[in-house]
Amino acid sequence: MQSELKFPANFFWGTATSPTQVEGHVNNEWTDYVASDGGHCRVACDHYHLYEQDVGLMAGLGVNAYRMGVEWSRLQSAPFAPLNQKELDRYLHLLDCLKAANITPMVVLHHFSNPPWVTVNGGWLNRAAIPAFVDYASKIVSALKDRVYLWNTFNEPDTYASLTYLIGGFPPFHKWRFGAYRKVIKNMARAHVLAAAAIRRECRGGQSPEIGIAKNWTYFEAFQSFAFWDHLMAALSHHAFNRFVLEEFAGPARRASSTFLGLNYYGRARLKHFRALVPTNGVPGEKLKALGIICDDMFERHPTGFGKLLRKLHRECGLPIYITEHGSASSDEDFRIQDLTGHLRELQSAMKDGVDVRGFFYWSLLDNFEWQFGYTKKFGLFSVDFGDERLPRKTTRVGQFYRQICQSTR
Ligand code: FCB
Repeated sequence: MQSELKFPANFFWGTATSPTQVEGHVNNEWTDYVASDGGHCRVACDHYHLYEQDVGLMAGLGVNAYRMGVEWSRLQSAPFAPLNQKELDRYLHLLDCLKAANITPMVVLHHFSNPPWVTVNGGWLNRAAIPAFVDYASKIVSALKDRVYLWNTFNEPDTYASLTYLIGGFPPFHKWRFGAYRKVIKNMARAHVLAAAAIRRECRGGQSPEIGIAKNWTYFEAFQSFAFWDHLMAALSHHAFNRFVLEEFAGPARRASSTFLGLNYYGRARLKHFRALVPTNGVPGEKLKALGIICDDMFERHPTGFGKLLRKLHRECGLPIYITEHGSASSDEDFRIQDLTGHLRELQSAMKDGVDVRGFFYWSLLDNFEWQFGYTKKFGLFSVDFGDERLPRKTTRVGQFYRQICQSTR
């Protein structure tokens, strides 16, 4: 399969993580959170201490890019405070290790977590979060700009706002607060625009920055063609989670703030009597299988939708695209390899049709803390033995397969 795939020589083959999910030792709204498997993020993969080793793993894979977060709560102890030098030095060293391994970083400024002083003041419902975030963005960009030019302001604002205020899965666990969902999206989108301007200001005279958000895209469809109520629900979900969010962040009026669109793609949610038929919604695997719905341990897979979506976003939005996340969680490695193959074929075919895709970041480098689900979802190119306090990493067959992709498609 690898030999069939041809990608531009400068294409980024990367992998991705986020601070709360891998670093450990964070002090944010997730610190006291206990996931459904009893797990917490206090140590996670201890990437905080083991990052040099993890860069070595990436180098062994042959990736040439890494999408990583910088954890706001580590870096600023109060609004407009100077950045914490010790924590900054750690990130600088991590970036130097990446550079030594010829790995280009893409840095995410916000990935589902906030400093405690943002949370106690109402989080992103409070407009005060906007200038605070922009100040943080300016300071971190000024500190890292010699080492970083690819900036991802917000990761999946739609997932963040819906799980915090509609579905009750993320702290502060509110449900059905549609007004709050809308407000969070509006405030984050405003912060994106202002942060993008601040990033450009900070980078003046140096390498031009690339700036974008990472938009999660889920297909919402009715499972049964006659069920008009599910069609209606799918249309409403599509509007609220896809259309509205994309419009707020990268619609025509705001497009100039971004130089790229990040796309996180995991698949589809089909609705039956208002219920999403996906494992994350508690629907048992056997039932999904009996209905002919192919899933990993989280979502329905929909590789053909990937190509379709890339063409559509290219047509409608026109920005270059980075696949900022794609991956699957399963203990069945053949399934994961097949899933990746199917999605890469779609990616290549869309690129052949002229869709400008610049890179692909596999989610995830390591098995990690998967938010509400703790350590039960195995997304890693490397597995982590969480039962052993040294947290040893071990390569998986998916990792070996990805290594061949990274090495042979250039
Ligand atoms: C995405 C998140 C990422 C991870 C993957 C599985 O929605 O951005 O942190 O949880 O899903």
